[in-house]
This record gives sequence, C-alpha cells and structure tokens, in this order.
Amino acid sequence: HPKALLRAIQEDGDYLVQLANQHIVSGDQFDQATMKQLFRLAAKIESNPKRFHSPLQNKILISAFYEPSTRTRLSFESAWHRLGGDIMSITDRSTTGIAKGESLADVAEMFNNYGDCVVLRDTNESSLFEMMDALRIPIINAGNGTDEHPTQALADMYAIFKWRPALLDASNNEKIKIGVIGVPNKMRTVRSLLKSLSVFPHAVEELVIIHDEASAAELFGADQREELELRGIKIRITTDLNAVLPELDVVYINAISWEGDTFNTYGNSFSLSAKSPLKHDAIILHPLARGEELAMDLDNTPHNWYFSQARGAVFLRMALLTCMVERAERVIDVV
Ligand code: CP
Repeated sequence: HPKALLRAIQEDGDYLVQLANQHIVSGDQFDQATMKQLFRLAAKIESNPKRFHSPLQNKILISAFYEPSTRTRLSFESAWHRLGGDIMSITDRSTTGIAKGESLADVAEMFNNYGDCVVLRDTNESSLFEMMDALRIPIINAGNGTDEHPTQALADMYAIFKWRPALLDASNNEKIKIGVIGVPNKMRTVRSLLKSLSVFPHAVEELVIIHDEASAAELFGADQREELELRGIKIRITTDLNAVLPELDVVYINAISWEGDTFNTYGNSFSLSAKSPLKHDAIILHPLARGEELAMDLDNTPHNWYFSQARGAVFLRMALLTCMVERAERVIDVV
C-alpha cells in the first residue's frame, strides 16, 4: 500500500522545509502540497524503514501526556526512537512543579533548556497555547481537551490515501462518501479531520454526520459547514445509521462508550458489527480506544482499516518529526 501511494505522488517538492521548527496546533495548518509531500515521505519510510538513517540522534523529545493515551504517546515515542533520538516522558502532571502551582510558561521555559521538541496532551484546551507563548522549541498538539488532534487527522488521511491513492489526483473524478459516527462535541480527531479533508475537496462527494441536527452543529467551527459546502462537499445529517451505511465508502467511528452515559443513549443505534449493512468494499476507521460501539467481530474482515490506521501513524509521525527537528532537505535526500 505505501508503494501505491508513492506511485501516486511521484514528485519530491520542497514544501516540507516550511515545517522546520513549526508548532503543530491545528488541522488547518497544512495545505495540499505539504500534506502530499508528508504522505510521500511517510510512505518512503514505511516502504523501507531500514534505509532510513537516524536523523534525530542526540535530539531529545519531551513527551508530556497529562491525559491517558495508548497510541499517540507510544507511537510518537516509537517514531522518535526509530529516528535515533532520546525521550523524556511525563505521564503525570502531579510529578512536576505544576502540582505546586508552577505556571505552564515556567515549565515551558525549562523545556527550552532540556529538549528539542515537545508533544503535549492535556485535558485543558488552553494549556497548549500557554506553553507555546514561552517555547522556543516546537510543540505538537497531541489532543487539547475536546478541541483538536491534528496529527491523528494526518494519520487518518494517510490511511485513506493508502487505501485509495487515486483520490489524490483531482483529475480522476474519484470521490468518496464519508460517514462520521460519534458524539459531536467530543470528537477532537474529527474536528481536525474536517480541516484536513477540506484541503482535498475534489476527493469527497459527501460528508454524513450520524447524529441529530442540534448536536451535529457543535462539531463545526464558525462558517465551517458553509465553507465545506462552498468547496463542493455535500453535508447530510441523519440519525438513521443503517439506512445510510450501504452508501458509505469510509465509516469513521469514534468512541461512544467512554463518554458518560452516551452509550446508553446512542450506543445501540450508533454502533457497528459484522452484521451492519456496510458497502462490500467500505473501510472502517476509528482513532481508538474503542468501546462497545465497534464490535470485535469486524477485526477479521476487510472493513478493518483501524489497525492499519494506527500502525501507519508511526511512519506519518516519523516523517513529521524529522521535518520539524531536522532539515527536511537533508532527510529527503537520504530516503
Ligand atoms: N487516537 C488516539 O488519540 O488514541 P490514544 O488516546 O490512545 O492516544
């Protein structure tokens, strides 16, 4: 699959140079050319990881996760290790001066001295911005409250384009219908994904939000729905999952079970299993961790792209980290 994506994006460009020392905050930071080059670099690494040398030797990642994580923390740390760097990991804010009332700005000032890049997950939406103001090294938003999770969206797009590389080319007239299942005001990954998808409007015929109108409205930023529609992406809101499933090419399902009593409210009507009326060649994506909304009987079916999505995130993050911390042209030369 990464080789098919490489054939679809044949040209190396110099767009990745602009990622050097940049903070990664939101899904709207990446234009189409930059994303394509990032996917190309990730696919090169995934196709032949051994050919890739250790560009981050002697560089230190500060991995600060003040909210639980399996995939994001471990895939960032795996990516950094695979790139030859070292890691300092904080998984509990109460072990730092924050517990004694130290400001995030002061913590960020210390990070400037101790590391070369920060990855931050925090339940508090604004912590990222408080730290950014004091940081001189780049920071990556690994989930800020219910706001955004931009590198998850990049990993999602990477999975979609590996599945169907023809979508990258606007002249192919190939389009997909994407359905989103979940609790709209909790879906930070989808908030970022909508921004990334809007950069490839030629690839998306319709976005279907499986929820009621009032809740679905909470997913969109100001004017975002109108902007997507202006770009040619149709938007449908429906609560009838089983009626729409046979039309969907990509089904993006989010955790419902973890969100208070929402599974009791919505779970039975917003869940997937091998019995669901999926299109025969539809793929399912899920940022994980999953709960009861995604039945394990789908794991051994061709619809299961959620494990591949999580696996590909390592290569996508390797590509992103090298460009942020190392000079991109040097990285591109060696792969
Ligand atoms: N996709 C994702 O954010 O998973 P984790 O919560 O395990 O990091």
